[in-house]
Amino acid sequence: MSTSVIGAPIQRIDGSLKVTGTAKYALDNPLDNVAWGVPVASTVGNARIVNIDTAVSERMPGVLTIIHHGNTDQLFRPAGQLEQSSRAGEVRPPFEDDNVYYYGQYVALVVANTFEQAQDAAAKVKVDYDKHPNIVAIGDATPPQGPPRIHYARGKADDAFDGAAVKIDETYVLPVETHNPMEMHATIAKWEGDKVILYESSQGVVNHQHVLSEMLGIPLDQVQVLSPFCGSGFGGKLFPWPHSLLAAMGARRVHRPVKVQVSRALMFTAVGHRPLTQQRMRIGATQEGKLVSVQHDVLQPTSMVDTYVEACTGVTTMLYSCENLTANQTLIPMNIGTPTPMRGPGIVPGLYPLESAMDELAVKLNMDPLELRLKNYAEQDESFTPNRPFSSKHLRECYQIGAEKFGWSKRTPQVGSMKQGDEILGWGMATATWHAGRGSATVRVRLNADGTARATCATQDIGTGTYTIFAQVVSEKTGIPIDKIDVVLGDTSLPDGPTSGGSTVTATVLPAVAAATNGAIDRVIAAAQTMKTGLFKRAGAGDDPPKLAMSAGRIHIADQPPESGIPFQEVLAHHRLAALEAESRTAPDPATSHQFSAHSFGAQFVEVAWDPGIARLRVNRALTVIDAGRIINHRTGRNQILGAVVMGIGMAMFEETIYDPRNAKPLNNNFADYIVSTNADIPQLDCIFVEYPDLHLNEYGARGIGEIGLAGIASAVTMAVYHATGVRVRKLPVRIEELMAGQPMLTA
Ligand code: MOS
Repeated sequence: MSTSVIGAPIQRIDGSLKVTGTAKYALDNPLDNVAWGVPVASTVGNARIVNIDTAVSERMPGVLTIIHHGNTDQLFRPAGQLEQSSRAGEVRPPFEDDNVYYYGQYVALVVANTFEQAQDAAAKVKVDYDKHPNIVAIGDATPPQGPPRIHYARGKADDAFDGAAVKIDETYVLPVETHNPMEMHATIAKWEGDKVILYESSQGVVNHQHVLSEMLGIPLDQVQVLSPFCGSGFGGKLFPWPHSLLAAMGARRVHRPVKVQVSRALMFTAVGHRPLTQQRMRIGATQEGKLVSVQHDVLQPTSMVDTYVEACTGVTTMLYSCENLTANQTLIPMNIGTPTPMRGPGIVPGLYPLESAMDELAVKLNMDPLELRLKNYAEQDESFTPNRPFSSKHLRECYQIGAEKFGWSKRTPQVGSMKQGDEILGWGMATATWHAGRGSATVRVRLNADGTARATCATQDIGTGTYTIFAQVVSEKTGIPIDKIDVVLGDTSLPDGPTSGGSTVTATVLPAVAAATNGAIDRVIAAAQTMKTGLFKRAGAGDDPPKLAMSAGRIHIADQPPESGIPFQEVLAHHRLAALEAESRTAPDPATSHQFSAHSFGAQFVEVAWDPGIARLRVNRALTVIDAGRIINHRTGRNQILGAVVMGIGMAMFEETIYDPRNAKPLNNNFADYIVSTNADIPQLDCIFVEYPDLHLNEYGARGIGEIGLAGIASAVTMAVYHATGVRVRKLPVRIEELMAGQPMLTA
């Protein structure tokens, strides 16, 4: 059996469809007689709707219907939210009542023959509001009452902090960040009788199907969701948002398919964001740098209508060894839309204060920051009582390889000491981590009489390479070449598959693809054993039939080379079969999940260059070393890590959604003013995988890699900025003004 296909840097099997424009994203699906829905969004953050005047709009050309809270169909709240079995981005259905809780909330939907007609008419809908003051800053909010949403404690962190020889007590602020994938959210809804088909841009078609069934109040089998391609999501497309319901409701009204595209401006309001977090970190250590106390306290805004928790403190409880530790997280409702996971939720923002405070501690101790981390290395996961072993942890090796490759030993620790021409270099490093999860999946694999294979599953490929790894496993097991393997994903009519979230799809689907492929192979082998060919006959009359195997696309006697056998399609032809297929469902072993703590780890090394003469800050290079088990595809895997580092540079240097306190509007709700990393910002990036298969998670030893590349980058950048400039940035993103002033300008 050839195994070289696993791990190989194989090109995406869907790559040519994408680069030739053949791949059909949600709105690309050509449907006859399509109408357009354009939402009317609130222009206030906190209000009651007094009146909606649609008279002018209704008379405009092409307008088919206008829906709002006064004439809406009844929609429901998602039942799955109660049991956490399915989840909507926003629990409140659109047009539920006359309350407005955030700027950009949908207050009406105009459906017209063309996009332009709908947009024009939407602009003429007149909404009168009874306005109330907006809360968009922590300072304006009522201080939270009651116990924190998250509370964790071990040992006596208070006392240990009081008695610590060296202390850090700082507050760090991460701003609201907005997901800005290339493909904006979009839905085409089409009713066929009492069944609705939704062409979506989704990270989870199965969850989407459940939520829409619950919120529309129709049975599950009357909802089909398709998302074969997704122009990325970063977490923003994990759960259905209200526009999908608007499309479904609009299409039902006008008896035509309806397209709803979320505009770039509305991408900043009604489809989630990473919430702001204000995080106080108190660390106490001995003179030798051993942690004696860690206290992590988080204030996190959420919306008025939901209780989304960005769980920042979990990472603090497990990353370093420390006996005394407390963590608390409190929510503050505000007049902004409901937050949602964004690449590396909880852990990425939680690591920023932890890794930054560790660097501040290293400076205070006059100790190398890498040495400080090694001194406090967690051999076990101390967040559990009793401590739990890690399923596989090779973080020490990540630090070592990273330091060597980066040249860390050449670092001179004094601020501003590494000059290069007009520029001052700064170096920073940080730990990365992400939990390794695995869920259940069902996959069907079909071996066809024409020598091809087909694998199907209702998971989806959001740009990560999921199509390709399906083909790799089928190819590994059967020896059928990759280009003869068809993979069909992103359709709820296929066998049940997982949401593309939490970096779990690879670990989840590999065992199911393998099992289904084995099942299909077994059926072909059984069919071969009944063939009256001289090849596979018993040695003697009473003997067992020879043990057969499949490799190189051929069925052959197990201990003989594939060339000695026959192509599998000859077996099918012999029996006049079109195909043989098998379906398998696999799930993690609950015993293992309680025995081990499964996480990926990594080390980030970053160099910045600060040119004080022209006030220019650039990231010069970044190196990421990742311990994520076995890498199934080195091309798409590397792409995941480098893409995440690009996002991390944006997080450190540019990204911030700013709200206008007058009307709660995100002021920079466009690509000109919301800055993300572009080519000119991205230097030489490199990524190295230390590959230790994590066989506790699955038989391939693969953990997920979609998110970990982002973890730690922002703190490594701000450490490097401190090293170059002496300015300790504790509120992201780094501002040139602060570097010019030579001091931070922290405002919470
Ligand atoms: Mo990720 S934030 O689970 O898409």
